[in-house]
Amino acid sequence: MKTQVAIIGAGPAGLLLGHLLRAEGVDCVILERQSRAYIEGRIRAGVLETITTDLLHRLGIDAGLNAHGMMEEGFNLADSGRMIRIPITELTGQHVVVYGQTEVTRDLIDAAPERGLEIVFEAADVALHDIDGPPYVTYEKDGVQHQVYADFIAGCDGFHGPSRQAIPHNAIQEHQIIYPWGWLGILAEAPRSFHELIYSRHDRGFALLSTRSPTVQRIYVQCDPHDAIEAWPDHRIWQEMQARFAFPGWTLSEGPIFQKGIVGMRSYVCDPMQYGRLFIAGDAAHIVPPTGAKGLNLAVADVLVLSRALDAWYKKKDRSGLDCYSANVLPRIWKCERFSWFMTTMLHQNPADSSFERHMRLAELDTVVGSCAAATALAEIYVGLPLD
Ligand code: APR
Ligand code: PHB
Repeated sequence: MKTQVAIIGAGPAGLLLGHLLRAEGVDCVILERQSRAYIEGRIRAGVLETITTDLLHRLGIDAGLNAHGMMEEGFNLADSGRMIRIPITELTGQHVVVYGQTEVTRDLIDAAPERGLEIVFEAADVALHDIDGPPYVTYEKDGVQHQVYADFIAGCDGFHGPSRQAIPHNAIQEHQIIYPWGWLGILAEAPRSFHELIYSRHDRGFALLSTRSPTVQRIYVQCDPHDAIEAWPDHRIWQEMQARFAFPGWTLSEGPIFQKGIVGMRSYVCDPMQYGRLFIAGDAAHIVPPTGAKGLNLAVADVLVLSRALDAWYKKKDRSGLDCYSANVLPRIWKCERFSWFMTTMLHQNPADSSFERHMRLAELDTVVGSCAAATALAEIYVGLPLD
């Protein structure tokens, strides 16, 4: 098979890049290891910046977003009984939308056939060849070996995918922090307990009250990343959440938990995000801890810049965008890495902290809640930094 761009991975990065390229008449094919059902069943985060919602509207893949997206004009930082609102719309004129990444992924896959976007699910043993050109990708499906010859490869295959690993190690620098804590996340059938998101710093550990709909709530608590899920029976989960969301004047509504899982946390950046004809985007190139809700939105920013660069090449044989892809996207990525690291370290309990470090975290929170300038700086990144 011959195409212009071979995309590896049908997560948000790969799917959005595919739709952007098809919208510009560029040929591409997406190779995905997992089945469609597996991809559509993956539970992930759900806060969308304006660049993400604008893109879904621009592509016309926004029916679900328009019907179920919840506009948020503020969020709350809570600390041992006090709650402080960060009025993001008042401070920045912008808002975010809560709409699950699972739903976004489903909408993007549903819209693919009518837009001529080919997705090969269950493509096994995907391997990249001759990435400094002319490149090709091989994979196996239903016992048959396939080759895809392309001008470029877009590695949108997440942190553990083959794309970044295909780049010679001495051609990249890797920057990483692994945090000593994890998140236990649940989906529960329950009414919304509070009209906005609450990020709670608590002596028992961090907790986040988010939502998916008026009847389905998404809630997270800080836990040991090595905990087995069996160690968290539902009654213990609710007990811990009630403790960490104990505020005067309201209580957390409980309900049947129908999904729960534990994730570890890291911050990671790969520099550069390209080698030869290979360009990596999203989690394949960078990871943020989920506290700042930046993972999906960073993937969107990458593919917006990459699709523009590919379009300029195919329309005008202008290579400048491709040559500067990494240089163009990394500064904004680092700012979002800092924001996610800051939110994470400010709001989580670290048993290894010295008393001085503990006071530093409290002082960071006090600074944000006590200064309009500090709150505005936080709100500006929360709603999303401009792309250019
Ligand atoms: N061959 C083909 N596909 C692969 C392979 C492989 N060897 N390895 C991984 N993949 C696929 C995965 O199955 C997944 O569907 O690549 C896709 C990568 O998607 P994501 O992990 O969702 O990454 P990305 O599209 O960059 O989106 C980033 O996803 O994980 C969240 O928090 C993260 O919100 C962020 C967003
Ligand atoms: C979520 O709704 O899953 C969510 C919300 C805010 C975050 C992270 C995750 O910061």
